[in-house]
Amino acid sequence: MKKRKLKKIVYLLLFLFCFVLVFLFFKLGRKVEVKEDSPNEETKTQEVVNPQEDPFVTALKKEKYYIEDYLERYLSYSQDKDISASVAIRNVNSNLDREMYTDTEQTDISVGNLMLVNKYYYLTEDFEPDDLVTLNAKYNSGANSKMRKEAAEHFMEMSDAALLDNISIKNASGYRSYTYQVGLYNRYVQRDGKEAADTYSARPGYSEHQTGLVSDINIVDDSFEKTPAFRWLQENAYKYGFILRFPKDKEYITGYKYESWHYRYVGVEVAKQMHEEDLTLEEYYAYYVRNK
Ligand code: DAL
Ligand code: ZN
Repeated sequence: MKKRKLKKIVYLLLFLFCFVLVFLFFKLGRKVEVKEDSPNEETKTQEVVNPQEDPFVTALKKEKYYIEDYLERYLSYSQDKDISASVAIRNVNSNLDREMYTDTEQTDISVGNLMLVNKYYYLTEDFEPDDLVTLNAKYNSGANSKMRKEAAEHFMEMSDAALLDNISIKNASGYRSYTYQVGLYNRYVQRDGKEAADTYSARPGYSEHQTGLVSDINIVDDSFEKTPAFRWLQENAYKYGFILRFPKDKEYITGYKYESWHYRYVGVEVAKQMHEEDLTLEEYYAYYVRNK
């Protein structure tokens, strides 16, 4: 009698065990089906149930400049484009998935020497640095002779060092106020039309000359590239905290034609790092400044 009772209990337990197994099997199976049918909405379920990640997402996450918060932007930018993970990251970090001069925001001036002013980030009309100093004739040749103090000091140090190599480096255009940029930009628009002017001149509020951290050096046209001063700067500018701001082949990132004469102060450490990693300020800012 006792034995029969025990048998019954064992059978019951076996039955319950099989029932749970069948239940689990159907529940998991359904989740996998849902995941395959709607890849976007069910991504979370997919992550839980299927540890196998989309290979493109895996590739994105392996990239050095990957920013977790931008994952959705990387994915939507890459859709219908035959691009690598690294290109998607570089372009989205530089905001290329957004419209220049349309998707704009006021720049964060609290980051000081690293403030980014471009076709996405602007300065207000009344922004004027409070530590502008005037470069004397030894270091300056143009009408806009002011720069922020730290930038000016490094500029003079750089100019002195160049002189030891018989190279003359003078500021041809430094700080420009919002109002000054209004006149300059409008003259270019009148001369060449708005579309052309936008390729080489910033609209008021969008010029980094207004930061006081910029110097156009010696000759403000393409002939500067052929001079020894340009070659010297290529070798040495970063050692004094300056970077070539609108490099060749990076026009699509910076939004401007190559300018061999336009240098931007970012500080010695940062300039060195940008030089080593071959980054534009757009790329540097996204990963090392905004992302932190
Ligand atoms: N030429 C540069 C883009 C400026 O106008 O600030
Ligand atoms: Zn310039």
